[in-house]
Amino acid sequence: MKNQVLLGEATIPGGDRVLKLYQGKDDCNIVISGRGELMSTRKHASESALGTLACELLKSADAASVLIGGLGMGFTLEAVLAATGKQARVVVAELVPEVIEWNKGPLGSYSNYPLSDARTEVYPGDVSDLLRDEGKRYDVIALDVDNGPEALSTSGNDWLYSRNGVNTARESLNKGGVLAYWSATADPQFTKLLRDCDLHVSEKSVYAHGNKGTKHTIWLARAQR
Ligand SMILES: C[S@@+](CC[C@H](N)C(=O)[O-])C[C@H]1O[C@@H](n2cnc3c(N)ncnc32)[C@H](O)[C@@H]1O
Repeated sequence: MKNQVLLGEATIPGGDRVLKLYQGKDDCNIVISGRGELMSTRKHASESALGTLACELLKSADAASVLIGGLGMGFTLEAVLAATGKQARVVVAELVPEVIEWNKGPLGSYSNYPLSDARTEVYPGDVSDLLRDEGKRYDVIALDVDNGPEALSTSGNDWLYSRNGVNTARESLNKGGVLAYWSATADPQFTKLLRDCDLHVSEKSVYAHGNKGTKHTIWLARAQR
């Protein structure tokens, strides 16, 4: 990539796809082999909105218990930390160990080093493991592990967007909790699946950056009872 310095490379566990972190003059980009840009520090409004909009739906976010999957460039985590109080506890699951290290280095400066916040706990692994742990409950579960329900970088993520995965996530919510998903595109079938799983769903279309251009989709879902 022109005028970009390669800072790191990582193979996504469970597959052969490779993530590459590049730094330019004013930005960082993560590119995924065979697919192009996955994330950029220049365009993160919708990733931030995922965290903000989900926390806004809580009666009180002061001491919220939040699960984020995955870390990426840390913008959802930064937004959740800003939207919650001092007693909040935020677990962020990240599948690729190098991504966690990148966020501790130069990449972290773009999201205000959210891993350094005392409320943050990192789980270096698959967010599905935490959802399957029946002992754990959250007020907010915010999932942005890929481009959306249909475009997956690792087939292991299929489960997260399946009926079983959605039901398991719903069961992991505290009463009044919010289950939020990010996607690069709208997906009516996934909206239907969420509703079929007895969730009250609101679908938002959010600009990737500023107030024009590409829009992304955020689903905010709450248990009906
Ligand atoms: C699109 S990025 C997330 C962007 C993030 N919302 C932000 O604010 O920058 C997706 C991240 O999820 C991670 N990931 C993919 N599958 C995962 C899984 N099953 N569990 C945890 N992290 C996962 C990827 O390695 C990548 O870092």
